[in-house]
Amino acid sequence: MSSLLIEGGNRIDGEFAVQGAKNAVLPILAATVLNGGKNVVYNCPDLSDVSSTVEVLENLGCSVSRHGNILNVDSSGMNSYTIPETLMRKMRSSIIFLGAIIARYKRACVSMPGGCEIGLRPIDLHLKALKSLGIEISEAHGYINCVADKITGADIHLDFPSVGATENIMLAACMADGITTIENAAREPEIVDLQNFLNRMGAKISGGGGNVIRIEGVKKLYGVEHTIMPDRIVSGTYLVCAAATRGHLVLTNTDYTHMGAILNLLSDMGCRIYREKNRIAIACNQRTHAVPTIKTMPYPGFPTDIQSPFMSLAAISDGTSIFVENIFENRYQHVDELTRMGADIRIDGRCAVVIGTKSLTGANVVAKDLRGGAALVAAALAAEGNTTIENVHFIDRGYENIEKYLALCGANITRKE
Ligand code: EPZ
Repeated sequence: MSSLLIEGGNRIDGEFAVQGAKNAVLPILAATVLNGGKNVVYNCPDLSDVSSTVEVLENLGCSVSRHGNILNVDSSGMNSYTIPETLMRKMRSSIIFLGAIIARYKRACVSMPGGCEIGLRPIDLHLKALKSLGIEISEAHGYINCVADKITGADIHLDFPSVGATENIMLAACMADGITTIENAAREPEIVDLQNFLNRMGAKISGGGGNVIRIEGVKKLYGVEHTIMPDRIVSGTYLVCAAATRGHLVLTNTDYTHMGAILNLLSDMGCRIYREKNRIAIACNQRTHAVPTIKTMPYPGFPTDIQSPFMSLAAISDGTSIFVENIFENRYQHVDELTRMGADIRIDGRCAVVIGTKSLTGANVVAKDLRGGAALVAAALAAEGNTTIENVHFIDRGYENIEKYLALCGANITRKE
């Protein structure tokens, strides 16, 4: 298990290109099983979650090769419709393969994904939607068995704009008989990237990014090439690191149009933000000030995935902020660790009251989930003294080479295997 050693106090000052989006590439890689052809995915980030997804693809009989940030996936050799428990437990978001496998094979058998560090992560909305497409689903011995004579388009209303459920419906319905509509669909930009990928394959999907998506089933889909969109959460995390150290950072190969809530909050906290086509710059040469309330919401609201990095920034801002985590029920695991560094945070249910202190002090801390681990990095960069962060494997799930990019910008950070 590797750890990160950080000596705080250096300003983040530099420029680099942002990685491709984890939450776009995972469903897009799942979608490659649909076309039984050769696919080329550009700007594919080097993440452990991507490696886990590649393992699932290879377990299904697909062949995958990586050349830098280019991934070649040939799904013509697919010879299985099962994802074993070991792989599902390795990465619960492999549930996104369900819709794609069923669309290709008319059957699927996957181990129940179970919960993770941030919550129970139920899939009731996924299963209810797939049933309305004519798919028979039975659950036994920890496995979900799906079978369908044929998949028939349907009008589906999601009780909650679930990202994964929206994606599973799009994947299952794109070769269905007839038309499927998704009402109250998730509006995240990653949904639009998936829609663009599927349409390039020959699907007929419209409305992505809005709350109604229309999918007209087609007979055949073809192998394609696609470039993954930039990661808006990773972009926002690095901007927070720059703000926390009163630094200056330029991000290229990014897309500010996906980041309204994030950039607005940074400027409300006193940072200067510059945005143009595919570049974002931040400058922050004084202590940030607290924003009274920060509530996580479905897109385009403030993203839950960046709640914890912003909490690290709030912990050293001038004033008090109240965070409300509306999406996941257990997404404050970083609070104990920030408290060890001197943060003054009180949790009450879904609320966390953060009373800004002048500074934090380095400590030995433990990452307990992906984004909470990133929050500890941001806090450590700003803290006085040295911090050791254990369980870096959580951070590696979503941040490519985090120590490399931060060291490029002046951070004193090294990884100890
Ligand atoms: C995706 O998870 C992302 N993961 C998450 O990012 C992100 O936090 C989340 O969307 C919200 O934006 C990937 O894209 C791989 P949801 P997903 O279904 O699809 C409840 C990260 O750090 N729900 O929109 O699982 C659920 O419990 C990860 O990169 C049901 O109740 O999120 C949660 O409270 C973390 N029943 C809420 O909806 C269901 O059937 C949002 O879940 C499905 C979801």
